Amino acid sequence: MKTVKIGLLGLGTVGGGTVEIIQKTLPEIQRRLGQRIEVAIIAVRDLNRARSVDTTGIQLTDQTEEVVNHPDVDIVVELMGGTGLAKTLLETALSNGKHVVTANKALIAEHGNELFALAKKHQVILNYEAAVAGGIPVIKAVREGLAANKIEWLAGIINGTGNYILTEMKKPGADFAKVLKVAQELGYAEADPTFDVEGIDAAHKLTILASIAFGIELQFNKVYTEGISKISADDIRFAEMLGYEIKHLGMASRTEAGYSLRVHPTMVPKSVLIANVSGVMNAVMAFGDHVGPTMYYGPGAGAGPTASSVVADIIDVIRWKDQPQADQVPGLGFAADQLESAPVVAIDTIETSYYIRCFAKDHTGVLAKITAILAASNISIEHLHQEPCSQNAEDATLILITNTVKESDLNTALAALSELDAIEEEIMRIRIETLGS
Ligand code: NAP
Ligand code: HSE
Repeated sequence: MKTVKIGLLGLGTVGGGTVEIIQKTLPEIQRRLGQRIEVAIIAVRDLNRARSVDTTGIQLTDQTEEVVNHPDVDIVVELMGGTGLAKTLLETALSNGKHVVTANKALIAEHGNELFALAKKHQVILNYEAAVAGGIPVIKAVREGLAANKIEWLAGIINGTGNYILTEMKKPGADFAKVLKVAQELGYAEADPTFDVEGIDAAHKLTILASIAFGIELQFNKVYTEGISKISADDIRFAEMLGYEIKHLGMASRTEAGYSLRVHPTMVPKSVLIANVSGVMNAVMAFGDHVGPTMYYGPGAGAGPTASSVVADIIDVIRWKDQPQADQVPGLGFAADQLESAPVVAIDTIETSYYIRCFAKDHTGVLAKITAILAASNISIEHLHQEPCSQNAEDATLILITNTVKESDLNTALAALSELDAIEEEIMRIRIETLGS
């Protein structure tokens, strides 16, 4: 039986989980493969740090190049994160003819076009299942399982930290900063948690999903990105009262003018399955022209779930590495020379309905001025709720749900509303999506 040697870059949350799975499940993995595997070397930043796993018999180094240049290493598994050193190291590994597995969505989303080209040039495999939705094998499901379909759209809760925060904030008295700290302690958050909270991590993942769904190049810079940091406990309460859940969604769809790629808080009717996905769980809906709506659900972050995808990728590499490249699934699911560099449409071209929250002076005639401004942009109000403002007795909190309007028209109306003396503070707007229901 041949032994395949693995070199890890990183032994943190996901690296530790990966070594633990390999150690605990080794006989079953080797039974699947008919080959032996061995973690030969691991690079870390701090050699003195206590580790969650037993590293007896594994060479530990703080020299990352040792892993990618190691003559015996067949597969380099990158679990350190970042787009600087990690990119350089993977370029070296691929150029050295080593197969690569990574959980690094930032790296794939921002530099994947070059890295896949390099992998092709050197006839090696670059796998990245753990980069999107943690433990859900969604890359395989969309890229391979739905290959018979023209995928029309997809939408997903693809950041576990964000969904965990939004879920916890439904509890009375929950504090955003404290909930985020717990998510960090549980190993869900990125090294820089603003990536989770401001939607950058979800935008990385959406970039990848859109690419494998539509056969387009990775275009991270074109994704419209909004995070959850401005969502208040009141917004969550109002959404609930109106029959919605606020979810941080990544959405990609085909439009006549190009592709719509966006990540933002979204109000989804409670009756839609994805609205009920809570905590660290993720879910991705993909709509194929033949299959119709599909949904993939599971834990989106954390050591065990993410490492589960990493190890599955390692197994896939071992199964496929000796096959001719032409017989393998292309990295992004479409033949490399068939990827389109398609236009991505501006966010203000979308048409949807909106939740608007504002604080207004509780004076006669204010509501008439607001409705007149909305009417001037052809916006009608489907629902109106008013209650005293908890922070200031002179103000009222107004909640409006609009009809379906073009976002550019809504922007015109919101700009005019914010000019009114009677409107206090910033106006909150949340897009509403029914996701095919
Ligand atoms: P982490 O816990 O911070 O672990 C990072 C590891 O990389 C640590 O072992 C660290 O060494 C090592 N490292 C960092 N910089 C290094 C350097 N310059 N030289 C040598 N070693 C270095 O991160 P993580 O949560 O496991 O995430 C790793 C990757 O997986 C990231 O790309 C992340 O986006 C992705 N990911 C994470 C999750 C999750 O749930 N956490 C899920 C999916 C994908 P020390 O331990 O010595 O500091
Ligand atoms: N920080 C990420 C999240 C890790 O919370 O979803 C999984 O990619």
